[in-house]
Amino acid sequence: MNENVRPETMERITTPELADAFIAEQVEAIRAQVKDQKVLLALSGGVDSSVVAALLVKAIGQQLVCVHVNHGFLRKGEPEQVIQVFRNEMNANLIYVDAVDRFLDKVAGVTDPEQKRHIIGEEFIKVFDEEASRLEGVHFLAQGTIYPDILESERGIKAHHNVGGLPQEMDMELVEPVKLLFKDEVRVVGKALGLPDNMVFRQPFPGPGLAVRCPGAITRDRLEAVRESDAILREEFAKNGLEGKVWQYFTVVPDFKSTGIKNEERSFEWPVIIRAVNTKDAMTATVEDVPFSLLQHITDRITHEVAGVNRVLFDLTPKPTATIEYE
Ligand code: XMP
Repeated sequence: MNENVRPETMERITTPELADAFIAEQVEAIRAQVKDQKVLLALSGGVDSSVVAALLVKAIGQQLVCVHVNHGFLRKGEPEQVIQVFRNEMNANLIYVDAVDRFLDKVAGVTDPEQKRHIIGEEFIKVFDEEASRLEGVHFLAQGTIYPDILESERGIKAHHNVGGLPQEMDMELVEPVKLLFKDEVRVVGKALGLPDNMVFRQPFPGPGLAVRCPGAITRDRLEAVRESDAILREEFAKNGLEGKVWQYFTVVPDFKSTGIKNEERSFEWPVIIRAVNTKDAMTATVEDVPFSLLQHITDRITHEVAGVNRVLFDLTPKPTATIEYE
C-alpha cells in the first residue's frame, strides 16, 4: 500500500469524536516510529505546523524540539502567541530564533517579487539548518504536510513547500502525522487538541508573510505600516463578524507617497490598500462586499493610528485579472 494515498475507506474527520480517535491513533503511531529519539519541527504558527506540534507534544512531550524562526514578516502578535501557546501553556521544548535583522538585511534594496521570495526561502533554510546542527542526535524531522500538498506536488503544480520547508539535504526521517488530512480536518483535529480558535481558523497566510505585502524594496518603516494596518483590519473584521466569513483579507503599503493634510500641515505619506476576497480554491476570487461604513471606520483608524499613512484605498479587482496577493 502506498502510504501517501488516502484510503477510500477513511472517514472524513468532521466531529470531535472522530478527531479524538485520529489523535489516539496518531499518538501511538508517532511513539512507535520515533521511540525515545528527538524530533525537530519548524513551527511557523500556521494551522498545519501548529497542529503537528500539538500532536507531537501529546505523543512525545520533551522529545519534540520546535524551532520558531521570526523572519520579521510575521503579523502583529504572532511570535508572542507561538511562545504563549506552545512554551507557556503546552510546556513544549521551543527554540525561538529572532532572525529579524538578518532577513531585513538580506532583502534590503531587492525590488523583484520572485527574487524576494527566493531570498527569504533560502535564508529560512539556512537559519533552520544552523539551529538543527546545534542539536545533537536528531534523526527525525516533523512536517505539517497535508493531503493537498501531496496531490499538488504529484501533479507538478507546486513544490510542496516554500518557507518553512524541509532542507532537502538534511537527510532525516520524516514524521508527517497529518499528511492524509484535508485542511478542514486539520482544523477539527487542532480544536480537539485545545489550540486557540484564532490559530485553528486563521486565514491563509503566505510563507514569506508580510514581505509580499510590501511591494518594492522593503524598509522597516513601511513594513511596520503594513503590520499595524493589518492588525487594525483584522481587529475590525473580527469585531464586525467578518472573521471566518471572508476567505482572505489584508493590507498592502505600496512604495509611493502622495500629498495629504495632517494636523493642518502638509503630509507626504504612503497609502494603505485594503484587499478582501473570497474563493474556494484560490484559483479565482471575488471581492467581498465590505459595508461602506465599516470601510470608513477602518480608514479613520488607519490614517490616525498608523505612522506614515495619509490615505486608504480599497482594491475592487477580482482574480483574474488580479491575483489574490498584491505584488
Ligand atoms: P495568488 O496571489 O497567487 O495567491 O492569487 C493564491 C494563494 O496563495 C497564497 N500565496 C502564497 N503562499 N507563498 C505562500 O506560501 C507565497 O509566496 C505565496 N504567494 C501567494 C496567497 O496568500 C493566496 O492564498
